[in-house]
Amino acid sequence: MSVLRVPGYLWRLVRIGGTMARSGALSRIAAHPGLGRGARWGVRIGAGLLRPFGAKGDPSLPPMARAFTALGPAEVKLGQMLSTRPDVVGTEVSDELRSLQDRVPPFPDEEAEAMVAAELNAPLDTLFTRFDPAIAAASIAQVHRAETPEGRTVAVKVLRPGIERDFLHDIEAFRFVAKVVERVLPSSRRLKPVAVYDHFEQTTRIELDLRLEAAAATEFRQNTADDPHFVVPEIDWSRSSQRVMTSDWIDGTPISDRAALIAQGFDPVVLGTRVIQSFLRQALQDGLFHADMHQGNLLVDRQGRIVALDFGIMGRLDPLTRRFYADILLSFLRRDYERAARVHREAGYLPADQPLDVFAQALRSVAEPIFGLGAKNISMARLLGQLFAVTERFGMETQTQLILLQKTMVMVEGVARDLDPDVNMWKAARPVVEDWMRRNLGPEGVARDLKATVEVLSGLGPRLPEAAERLVMLLDRRTDEAGPFASPAPVVQVKTALWPVVVAGLVGGIMGAGMMMLLVWA
Ligand SMILES: Nc1ncnc2c1ncn2[C@@H]1O[C@H](COP(=O)(O)OP(=O)(O)O)[C@@H](O)[C@H]1O
Ligand SMILES: [Mg+2]
Repeated sequence: MSVLRVPGYLWRLVRIGGTMARSGALSRIAAHPGLGRGARWGVRIGAGLLRPFGAKGDPSLPPMARAFTALGPAEVKLGQMLSTRPDVVGTEVSDELRSLQDRVPPFPDEEAEAMVAAELNAPLDTLFTRFDPAIAAASIAQVHRAETPEGRTVAVKVLRPGIERDFLHDIEAFRFVAKVVERVLPSSRRLKPVAVYDHFEQTTRIELDLRLEAAAATEFRQNTADDPHFVVPEIDWSRSSQRVMTSDWIDGTPISDRAALIAQGFDPVVLGTRVIQSFLRQALQDGLFHADMHQGNLLVDRQGRIVALDFGIMGRLDPLTRRFYADILLSFLRRDYERAARVHREAGYLPADQPLDVFAQALRSVAEPIFGLGAKNISMARLLGQLFAVTERFGMETQTQLILLQKTMVMVEGVARDLDPDVNMWKAARPVVEDWMRRNLGPEGVARDLKATVEVLSGLGPRLPEAAERLVMLLDRRTDEAGPFASPAPVVQVKTALWPVVVAGLVGGIMGAGMMMLLVWA
């Protein structure tokens, strides 16, 4: 961050503060019971001074939404992200920010056409025989319907001209603000302004490069190819670039239009269950899930399949986290809190000094009230949310990917509930989770793990004997020295926590290889 830019950031700060003051957002902050008297007056006086420099905004919106909308696209995106973090901004502000609509007037068609031609390096009429006016416009991009010379109807998403520059400027100003706040107000550190900012920057950078969205769509399409009830449009890579993304146009009905779906003969109850099941299966089976599953990004096609659009925000879960997550869900399904606690310990999340039974008791204390609400009111998202609150109390840090999963689950449950107010989340989830557990923890899963281990080991091939020797040397040294936390071994540096995995992997692999050889010989 260059020093020369600081005046620009300061001006941006003044503008942000002024707009927050004019919209009434600052008085809301000043009223926060957590603020001391001095701080409250500080905010009030600051608001008075800054007010003349702020933008007016739309007075019909609630204060926070009004301020963020008036400030620009980067602020709208930031506001939307904060709306998913009640842990950071509090439930009241997050509810208010949820109303932030990312709908803005489209930019002129000629600009979009010029952008497409320049980006794809060809005259527009050789690329598309028809290019309709924008059908949807948001702060980062807009979408046009078009037709290719081969006669395919496609959706063309085009980035707003100059959006990268606008965004990067604001994003840097945010980083500056986050750093200053974290330095001057030590009490703010609990809210991790810089970490929240980093998360924001990471997600927006992906949205500013449509090749990344296209790549996510392609991977997601491959993963879901054998799901007969779920569709991901195919990307036309020959007509996609950093600023343009072309995909198959899907004729469908918005999933929010329950009446139209019923009129077409689809059963909303079945659709609701499918939304939940597809989402869970994707998260568990492939570890890749759509993390922006609100109604605006879901259609139902003419065959009644659920269509997902908009792959700017995707979540990933590594295999260990998936196993942990499935096991936790199943333990909760069976209301087996001892098992849920043990899974936390085995995954290495529950610190060794925390007693298992006390942790199980805490889990029971937050889960039972939710179960007490009766089958159709049980929310898995809420249960997970409560679980994270407990784990935090026991000194565990919740993984960002699991938080993202839980936030998405809130959206997915909302979509399902709108389709079928009586939907029973547990009933929908249970077969998916049990099936996954059976296939991954049963004999089939063990065989697959062994095969994978053998593959890795055979890839190491000629290096294996040396690796084994080093391992033994290292283990010897470890036992000779003061203990497991003695200075890092000079030979190979591996985190202490990885040791059991490495050893188990090697032993398992060698056993597996032996078994395979026996099978081949027999
Ligand atoms: N492949 C498609 N087929 C049909 N409609 C589409 C397609 N892609 C996008 N749309 C329409 O354009 C809208 C905006 O697209 P989306 O990818 O969600 O953009 P944004 O990131 O701006 O939300 C969607 O809500 C949908 O109505
Ligand atoms: Mg969208």
